[in-house]
Amino acid sequence: MRPPWLLLVAGLLAGALAGCAGTLSAESTPDDPEEGGLIGGPGAAPETDAPPAPEAAPDTDAPSPPDDPPDAPPDPPDGPEAGVPCEIEQILTPRCGTCHGADLRFGAPVRLDDLATLRAPSLSDPGRPLHAVVVDRMDHATRPMPPPPNDRVPADELAAFRAWSQAGAPAGAACGDEPEPPPPVDPTPPPPSLDCEYDVELKAHGGFFAEDEAPFHVPLQTDHYECFYFRPPWNTDVHGLSFSPIVDDDRVIHHWLLYVQEGAGFGDGDHDACVGRHDNAELVAGWAPGGSDNVLPDDVGLHLPSNQTHLFILEVHYNNQAGHQDAFDRSGVRVCATSDRRPNTAGMHWLGTENLLMVRAGRHDRAGTCRPRLNGPVNILSSTPHMHRRGVHLKTDIVRAGGGRDTLIDAPFDFENQVLHDTLATVYPGDSLETTCTFEHEGGLIGFGPGTNDEMCYNFVVAWPYGALSTGGSLTNAENACLR
Ligand code: HEC
Repeated sequence: MRPPWLLLVAGLLAGALAGCAGTLSAESTPDDPEEGGLIGGPGAAPETDAPPAPEAAPDTDAPSPPDDPPDAPPDPPDGPEAGVPCEIEQILTPRCGTCHGADLRFGAPVRLDDLATLRAPSLSDPGRPLHAVVVDRMDHATRPMPPPPNDRVPADELAAFRAWSQAGAPAGAACGDEPEPPPPVDPTPPPPSLDCEYDVELKAHGGFFAEDEAPFHVPLQTDHYECFYFRPPWNTDVHGLSFSPIVDDDRVIHHWLLYVQEGAGFGDGDHDACVGRHDNAELVAGWAPGGSDNVLPDDVGLHLPSNQTHLFILEVHYNNQAGHQDAFDRSGVRVCATSDRRPNTAGMHWLGTENLLMVRAGRHDRAGTCRPRLNGPVNILSSTPHMHRRGVHLKTDIVRAGGGRDTLIDAPFDFENQVLHDTLATVYPGDSLETTCTFEHEGGLIGFGPGTNDEMCYNFVVAWPYGALSTGGSLTNAENACLR
């Protein structure tokens, strides 16, 4: 049996509720205390924000199965040489080893390179062995492993792994003495050779002032969102040229999103727990393991507003399910910007719909069409889907003036894994953009809104020329609206 979606939400909810507490601005709607019961159903939602008790001893990196001491011979009945069979290892190591290897990274909770662990009860579903849960997650519609933006496991490899799992995960001959090293993730590439007038590092930190160098102590939580506020050093509009990840404690950082927010609700150096909701904020860049630097094309700069009106928000998603007590983090983003503007300016555009009333339980599609008024081509660089917890999928099609459609993005959505996708495409005069969000609704009246129990359906699209895809207004009523 596949874990039902409701259970998944229940697991996520613990983190969300914790992330919410005391977080949002004064006018925000507090979480409905009923929400856990409403979404998760009986017994599904934990009542506290406490993280689930880690299966592993707090300071060990790799959880060992309960009745299999780490130093015991791997699997006596199958012979001393036997382990994860080579053909299985050849699937797991390159696709999963970066995170699920001997050094657990990027929030991965468990090793996948050890037969005893694969046969032991899984963390999320202790009634089933981990290898069975692996099959589910490789094949999962909305929370696939590896997580986006990494490629999905191809059908033939999935079939081979499934057959092995269904056979009871038999031991086999390992690949060789030297296990293949996992592919290197290079999340901190050398700085691009760009003309950075401003070369700024925005990083997680522990104190509450701008120059603080102390690391941020990452809580023992499965999903923790911390927002760090920074005032940019420029007092005029500038062009952002690149946004590069800085990865510090790679055991626990999961992904980050960078926003600019209008207004001055927070001071330079402030931070607080937050839950992915930012009024008056625009997404600027994002990174998840497997993703690359956000580098603008040579003749394009991304519009970044002045410090007179805007602050940066760096929202870092941590996953400390493994229970590292010593997780102190200085991850973040390095922003390269200049006031010497390039010939073209790109900006964030909002596609989607705000027409989201839903009542009956089940799957709902909601679509919005943006018909921009264009004189020339528009160049799309990236797409970042954004919904709340019921969102499971987002698709944007370019409907061509002359007939036919091209897919801009067609991707599963997971609230806990919101990522920026490179989606290079050109939109021509007469074309329109149709965005469809798919929701799994638990039933009951809900609609558009910023609260955690409301829903959203946006595709944040970086494109140039700046503003080309905006017609203004609300997406709710006008069929041809392209908000902002
Ligand atoms: C970029 C890092 C990364 C990569 C690559 C990755 N994972 Fe994960 N994995 C995670 C994180 C983070 C979690 C915990 C959050 C979650 O469950 O989504 C996780 C959780 C899991 C779980 C849940 C364990 C449980 O007991 O519930 C399974 C199963 C899993 N991954 C399998 C895989 C497989 C199989 C691959 C390769 C095909 C893979 N992962 C690749 C980061 C990664």
